[in-house]
Amino acid sequence: MRFPFFRPAPAVAPAAPGTHGSPVPPVDDGVLLETVGLTKAYAGADGELPVLSGIDLTVRSGEIVALLGRSGSGKSTLLRCLAGLLPPSSGTVRYRGTPLAGANPGTALVFQTFALLPWLTVRQNVELGLEARGVPPRERARAADQAIDLIGLAGFESAYPKELSGGMRQRVGFARALVVEPDVLMMDEPFSALDVLTAENLRGELMELWDSGQFPTRAVVLVTHNIEEAVLMADRIVVLGSRPYGTIRETVEVGLDRPRDRDCAAFDELVDRVYRIMTGRPKETRPPERPDPGRPDRRTLATTPLPTVSVDGLSGLAEMIAHRHGCCDLADLADGLGLDMDDVLPQVDALDLLGFAEIHGDDLLLTEDGTAFAHADVQDSRALFAAAAVEVPLVKLIANSLRGEPGATVRAGFFRDLLAHHYTSEQVDRQLETATDWGRYAGLFGYDADRQEYRLEEA
Ligand SMILES: Nc1ncnc2c1ncn2[C@@H]1O[C@H](COP(=O)(O)OP(=O)(O)OP(=O)(O)O)[C@@H](O)[C@H]1O
Ligand SMILES: [Mg+2]
Repeated sequence: MRFPFFRPAPAVAPAAPGTHGSPVPPVDDGVLLETVGLTKAYAGADGELPVLSGIDLTVRSGEIVALLGRSGSGKSTLLRCLAGLLPPSSGTVRYRGTPLAGANPGTALVFQTFALLPWLTVRQNVELGLEARGVPPRERARAADQAIDLIGLAGFESAYPKELSGGMRQRVGFARALVVEPDVLMMDEPFSALDVLTAENLRGELMELWDSGQFPTRAVVLVTHNIEEAVLMADRIVVLGSRPYGTIRETVEVGLDRPRDRDCAAFDELVDRVYRIMTGRPKETRPPERPDPGRPDRRTLATTPLPTVSVDGLSGLAEMIAHRHGCCDLADLADGLGLDMDDVLPQVDALDLLGFAEIHGDDLLLTEDGTAFAHADVQDSRALFAAAAVEVPLVKLIANSLRGEPGATVRAGFFRDLLAHHYTSEQVDRQLETATDWGRYAGLFGYDADRQEYRLEEA
């Protein structure tokens, strides 16, 4: 079936004006959303902490734009700024050429897990958005049933959320967003809470609707950290980098024919290319290839955040690469292990930071030290790890602060305050946990959790 108000096909000019909102005029240049010089900072313990910087982004009618980036790169923050739920710290967000002053009337959101009201039926949950817009009850019910039908929930109109599987609940989330016929549907990792098969099924169904012109929106913005999902769905992939703040690292035009085939060489090439962009480091923060004793280390607390990786985790990856003769293709590695970007990249970062591995294009190569570390027995491995970890800024800072008599202590708050100049409190906590794990394994220092202090252990 087909909504009477759906656009006929992904098009530059919109079809007939929506029936539930005020009529929306066509946009001459097709630009629905635009950010210019968008910057966003959150309040931290030590003032404002920048999360996004200098974001220039355009979303046009007829396109699916993916915002791809690692955890903490500011994807959700950017989405909320586009939806008008968060004001930018500086710069502008425009909807159809008009700067936003509050919630964006042309957007609707789907989140990772959808907060359905448990005491309302599926139909009543879907109607909620229309109720808020003052749509009369009879029209509300008709539109809700159409959205429910479109999204494959027909027969479940009177069911309560607790009777539905996770996938079905997420469909209600989609129906609730689509029923208001937003110009732009915004999705924040909408498939990541679903099991693999359910996610793949729902993705496929949504893309069929989009390709057939039955999708009741003019554009889609999809937040994801899954490269394959971005290549499968998007016309354009905006890769966000997070060092030190969220910036647009590169925009990739996808240009593959639809429906897309994951098993073709062009698809693989694009996945590899995006992998390369995501693993690449901006020049100014790239650590030196080899530590040069004659040159001061340019790595600082601000430019070298500790990835959240346990020693076990990075040892595991080093051993896996060693088994593959010291070299592996990152995309193949993640794929072979059934892992996501966010699962593997922090370990890759950690090996790189410690000088145990280097990234060349798509390949991860163990260095000489990394190979020795991967093959070493426990004692040797700790010594090799200590020699590498003590060059990492936060670990070095803690170790240096304790230099002196055994039994010396320094309160964790000291390091917390220093880190708070550059990171959010959540990031500070995670980095201190990692530094503690690394320092303990390396035998560089201990940590007393009750007293919240680092100490140099007695020999
Ligand atoms: N309300 C907030 N107050 C302070 N800091 C925040 C707030 N929301 C997010 N942050 C911080 O801003 C940074 C970007 O967060 P955001 O949620 O936008 O990233 P993301 O790319 O969506 O990450 P993820 O993939 O984990 O969802 C993170 O470091 C996060 O800790
Ligand atoms: Mg997010």
